[in-house]
Amino acid sequence: MLKTEILKILRDKGDYVSGQELCDSFGVSRTAVWKAVNSLKNDGFMIASVPNRGYRLQETPDVLTKSELESRLSTKWLGRIFYQYDEIDSTNTELKRMASADPALPNGVMAITDNQVAGRGRRGRAWSAPAGVNVAMSFLLKPDFAPDRASMLTILAALAVARGVEETALDNGADQKVKCSIKWPNDVLLNNKKLCGILTEMSSELDFIHYVIVGIGINVNLEEFPEEISDIATSISLECKKKISRASLVDAVLRAYEDIYETFLETCDLSGLMEEYNSRLASMNIQVRVLDPKGEFTGISRGINSEGELIVDKEDGTTELVYAGEVSVRGIYGYV
Ligand code: BTN
Repeated sequence: MLKTEILKILRDKGDYVSGQELCDSFGVSRTAVWKAVNSLKNDGFMIASVPNRGYRLQETPDVLTKSELESRLSTKWLGRIFYQYDEIDSTNTELKRMASADPALPNGVMAITDNQVAGRGRRGRAWSAPAGVNVAMSFLLKPDFAPDRASMLTILAALAVARGVEETALDNGADQKVKCSIKWPNDVLLNNKKLCGILTEMSSELDFIHYVIVGIGINVNLEEFPEEISDIATSISLECKKKISRASLVDAVLRAYEDIYETFLETCDLSGLMEEYNSRLASMNIQVRVLDPKGEFTGISRGINSEGELIVDKEDGTTELVYAGEVSVRGIYGYV
């Protein structure tokens, strides 16, 4: 897309680029360049145009338009094909519709929106967020490992978000101390408040995965939360006191996921990632209450094993491996 290419050049140069240089670079007419620049201006980009000097990008707005995303994405395969929506019910639902309609939909396709109006959370809950300030994205994976490995993909996503948020916060001028933690299995926290939710869904047979959809919602530039959740939820900008470029964040999270996924595929378990995960685990070596369907119990959380299970030492001296319960953590939101 011409808009994307012009945006990239203007951003890279950081100075005036002549209209002629743009025409020559892309083999297009001056009118085509002028139209593309105007369209970028309509998207909110501040571009100075000065006769005899050319165009200069003065300010980049925080938008999730197709060209802004395209100009930032630097992944190898994840999200390289993406569908961007100004508004959609849910990116997970949309990707599911696409994947069921087209069984050949390739690995790595992403759906992303600026305004998700019927977002879905885990266990049938809703996930709501205002328009224009957050990230709601989902990507498709078509792994050839067994379905029992798939729950770990969600843990990979939590790690990717943690790394991506830290990188982007620093790039956007936050101080060095931004450190994300994780509430098992996959809530990403900043200063002990929830920053991100992940919903991973799968279509499979007993021994074959058709596809997995990893959906990620991140509170990015949200300045205010409803009172009932302001103690437990936060956004990157609230914690870092900086406005964050959502398109750069998307790129950083996807790059981190590619990297982490590569490590995961070497063993098809979490042995290469456990150490980082456990160093981020909010409940490491502290008391947790496990809301197990067979009965609640408390114990000391000792981190995850290579299967992603939470190791909990109970008071009676036995150890439980928690596979998929709701875990409430002392000192972290949700513990009463
Ligand atoms: C949770 O914490 O309950 C998980 C929330 C997951 C929200 C994301 S936003 C993008 C994707 N689309 C959805 O409808 N849900 C996920």
